[in-house]
Amino acid sequence: MDLFTGRNEMKGVILHGGSGTRLRPLTYTDVKQLLPLAGKPVSEYALLNLIEIGIREINIIVGEIGKKEVQDYYGDGEKWGVNISYTHQEAPLGIAHAISLVEDFVDDENFVVLLGDNYFQNGISSMNRSFAELGTDAYVALTKVANPSRFGIAEVSNGKIIKIEEKPRNPRSDLAITGAYFLRKSIFDVIKELKPSWRGELEITEAFQIMLDRGMKIGYSVIEGWWKDTGTVDEFLDCNRMVLDTLKREVSGNFADSSVSGRVKIESGVKIMGKTKVLGPCYIGKNTILQDTYVGPYSSIGPNCKLKNVEIEDSVIMDGSSIELTGAERIRESLIGSNVIIKPNDFMGLGMRLIIGRDSRLEI
Ligand code: G1P
Repeated sequence: MDLFTGRNEMKGVILHGGSGTRLRPLTYTDVKQLLPLAGKPVSEYALLNLIEIGIREINIIVGEIGKKEVQDYYGDGEKWGVNISYTHQEAPLGIAHAISLVEDFVDDENFVVLLGDNYFQNGISSMNRSFAELGTDAYVALTKVANPSRFGIAEVSNGKIIKIEEKPRNPRSDLAITGAYFLRKSIFDVIKELKPSWRGELEITEAFQIMLDRGMKIGYSVIEGWWKDTGTVDEFLDCNRMVLDTLKREVSGNFADSSVSGRVKIESGVKIMGKTKVLGPCYIGKNTILQDTYVGPYSSIGPNCKLKNVEIEDSVIMDGSSIELTGAERIRESLIGSNVIIKPNDFMGLGMRLIIGRDSRLEI
């Protein structure tokens, strides 16, 4: 970024690969970064972060799973007023491997890489400014975490990063490196020296450690506001809560306040029927039908769903699902994919009929 004019010639890269094993079974068929948070794929928030800091040239690195869906969704970027191109990472060989594939795209510019499954509440503009001011070889955003063995961890001394380790068994600090990396083209030569880690990946954190060993500087800030890696079901639901907490009431239909109360965003074509109650914060996607249903706080219901006789809270239901229940069970802390059908069985008497794929999880 030019500090004087504010123009940003930097390029943007969004990582959309990976296998998403911790979000199975959804990620057998769906790309984890396209899973919706309040009606937008997680990775669209990353795109908006790049656009907010003035970046117009963006490359999305897609993996094997769902590469067509990603390209169908983002297209050439025209809808957002930016240029989007794509790079194919054939196997999930790590963040640093993915970055090595965009050397030509980046050319001589500095660039920002965002992990498409990370969510930054306050965006990335203050990081962008600090990177430009400090002029360091790279720049990362840190945040305190409760489970440091799950992340790349930075040790900081006298305002400088002195050591970086990926998922350390004995963490030297609780400062995780979040998925926003501000880089220069010098990173490409460092990546060429990397060997696969224990998990078979080229780790960006190991590239950073090589840089530190050579006396190169990695600037940092500890981010304000919250940040989430949405890589597991619990983290995804937690992020859903946080995003819904930022919603403002947007109710376009003519619904009585008694049936729709609080900070609720309802898209067009939604039908609310019978004794339905919707209590915010929550999100209801286009053309969804709610009949005799309670949608409680922290629920995100996708478009084209049908919910009948359902009680749900603190959950995400994706597009096209149809749920009808009979009892007083309440769905809680659940993640329900696209086109799922849950309905009373057609035969008389007791019993359940379950048609459930690999790695499904039911807690009933
Ligand atoms: C990756 C990085 C790790 C970073 C994390 C942030 O981990 O390897 O350094 O802290 O993203 O989300 P992964 O999600 O691949 O386990």
